[in-house]
Amino acid sequence: MSVTVRVPAKVNVQLAVGAARPDGFHDLANVFLAVGLYDEVTVTPADELRVTCAGPDADQVPLDRTNLAARAAFALAARRGIEPAVHLHITKDIPVAGGMAGGSADGAGALLACDALWGTGASRAELLAICAELGSDVPFSLVGGAALGTGRGERLTALEVGGTFHWVFAMARRGLSTPAVFREFDRMAEGRTIPEPEASAELLDALAKGDPDALAATVSNDLQPAALSLFPELADTLAAGRDAGALTALVSGSGPTTAFLARDPESAVKIADALRTSGTCRTVRTATAPAPGATVTGRTDQ
Ligand code: C5P
Repeated sequence: MSVTVRVPAKVNVQLAVGAARPDGFHDLANVFLAVGLYDEVTVTPADELRVTCAGPDADQVPLDRTNLAARAAFALAARRGIEPAVHLHITKDIPVAGGMAGGSADGAGALLACDALWGTGASRAELLAICAELGSDVPFSLVGGAALGTGRGERLTALEVGGTFHWVFAMARRGLSTPAVFREFDRMAEGRTIPEPEASAELLDALAKGDPDALAATVSNDLQPAALSLFPELADTLAAGRDAGALTALVSGSGPTTAFLARDPESAVKIADALRTSGTCRTVRTATAPAPGATVTGRTDQ
């Protein structure tokens, strides 16, 4: 018996960051867009909880109870008073520590897979509440598409997307820790008044129209200066993509993955080729958006 769930990565087309809150988190206006790069989580009954991972970055994935997939299984099992006796296997395609919500994807995927395997019949609202406990980006991994995240990013409002956007992603040679990037944001913000984060009406309009030029003109990421401060070489990757014709180039979330918006699929291939030969990154991928959220893609009954 097994259940397989496929979960998308995300890029933030707007990431407006407010001042640090007393709990250490930051209020955000976070416009998430799910992109067609996917992790898969397969859950099968086992004697006790165990996590395995396959894929090019598998050696960087923790296989202990800190893994968000393991934490998701524990959280759902605890609510039902059952043992989380499952094997969680992650097929990893989303970069690790890359700012594309790869860990969050595995959390949302494991939750949906365990719910289906155990027949717990959790409501969407309960699944979303568990996701929010697991991490700020996990609810979005469950729902996919496009959404505005407020609070620490976990309170979602679905957004309309009027077309397909073509993206190129450049994966860096090392990761960046999200808490470290937020700490750098705080350090750089010292002595400044930080405005309340607000979604850009122009950006939401560009998404709704599916207009890549308008989207390129309105994307923003308040974490980008902090990511560049910790990882200055990312500026070379951004420049290489811009020179190759990207409509815009930005750091994805807390980085260090960089994201390039292309006008059409042909332009995306050209930008990807230029980035590959630029020597400024580790790997390059193209993907379209929006992508659906966590979805059960396979089920066996033996
Ligand atoms: O929620 P999550 O566990 O993904 O957050 C990871 C870290 O990122 C937090 O511990 C915090 O340092 C930072 N963070 C933040 N404000 C947010 C979301 C995350 O400061 N809204």
